[in-house]
Amino acid sequence: MGHEIKTTEGSKQEKYENLLPQIESLITGETDMTANMANIAAALKQTFGFFWVGFYNAANEKELVLGPFQGPVACTRIAFGRGVCGTAWREQRTITVADVDLFPGHIACNSASRSEIVVPLMHGNEVKAVLDIDSDTPCAFDETDATYLKRICDMLSAHAYDNNAL
Ligand code: SME
Repeated sequence: MGHEIKTTEGSKQEKYENLLPQIESLITGETDMTANMANIAAALKQTFGFFWVGFYNAANEKELVLGPFQGPVACTRIAFGRGVCGTAWREQRTITVADVDLFPGHIACNSASRSEIVVPLMHGNEVKAVLDIDSDTPCAFDETDATYLKRICDMLSAHAYDNNAL
């Protein structure tokens, strides 16, 4: 049987509710981080049609390096504390940016990006990676995205780092 994401009509919340068990099923039994990040990026892109969705991994304590993603080519390295991604890493919290032009230090990998959300992927007290999503429309992200994307990151962390393959 092949793996396939089944999308649904409805509200953003209904789409996430439909997607989460499918992501859980996709990553169950697979502990490889690259494989799971790649499928999660694809599943989010297919469900929501985001302009750019992907991961940056903390390569060391100084910089993030581009990981699996869907969308146009992007910057490969982001320093600790720089841009939305580096700030979410430093502050260990989700950052939602309604208008990227108003975020000091925003790194414009693509000029079409208008709003952004970055969720840290935590393992214990450590940020191992960030999930970054860009939209080509302003104000695309809200608390619903923050809540469900954090649940996806927590699920991924539990699988990969705790070797707890459900
Ligand atoms: N805008 C991000 C950089 C990554 S790209 O959006 C894919 C930032 O400011 O950190």
